Amino acid sequence: MRKPIIAGNWKMNKTVAESRELVTALLPKVKNAKCDVVVCVPFTDIAAVAELTKGSCVAVGAQNVAWADSGAFTAEISAAMLKEAGATYVIIGHSERRQYFGETDKTVNMRLVQALANGLKPILCVGEMLAEREGGKTEEVCRTQVVGAFEGISAADAAKTVIAYEPVWAIGTGKTATDAQANETIGYIRSVVKELYGAAVADGMRIQYGGSMNAKNVDGLMAQPEIDGGLIGGASLKADDFAYIVNAAE
Ligand code: PGA
Repeated sequence: MRKPIIAGNWKMNKTVAESRELVTALLPKVKNAKCDVVVCVPFTDIAAVAELTKGSCVAVGAQNVAWADSGAFTAEISAAMLKEAGATYVIIGHSERRQYFGETDKTVNMRLVQALANGLKPILCVGEMLAEREGGKTEEVCRTQVVGAFEGISAADAAKTVIAYEPVWAIGTGKTATDAQANETIGYIRSVVKELYGAAVADGMRIQYGGSMNAKNVDGLMAQPEIDGGLIGGASLKADDFAYIVNAAE
């Protein structure tokens, strides 16, 4: 049995003051959560949100991590910095990083290695673009991204990773993958993990769906056997909507 994990990806939203407001509203609504709950917030919000969520069921994540310990890497944030600020999770390889900021399977791999080496729990994002789905390339794209991300990583470390399957065409568009599409592709990703690391790691690995997941479609998605939770963008910015999704995941 895999415990579901619901993670909010706030992206570039919420100042420190706004983050306090959102988390203060959220905490009482999710106090009986039966899944793991994470909010992945802007770097500048991590310390404030970590302070507010201390002792609660809500963990704090970052949205990226540097591949080096320290040094001349202007604008990057190290794993040690994230941990000291209070983050325990980190999103790696989000499609917006891949699309707009030149993230590649190689840099995703380097960041994943660094997160695992420092005890941060990674949420690795993979997923195809619309043209790739329409061209029948979904599985090939997901395979390449998963294999590339885990290059050189041990089974023990891989097992600590959460994967988020996020079809790029479903992100922020209001266009969700159907329950069956999401379940099928996540099942395929699990089969790739099985090829890489064997059945025990594959069966234990939590694989989320992400892409316009909301209070209306969460029940159908969560009813699918392969789907172990969600990575939620837009709907994580509203306490009621995010709490509804969290409470729907058992
Ligand atoms: P969305 O974003 O829920 O707004 O589609 C999901 C994500 O990008 O992680």
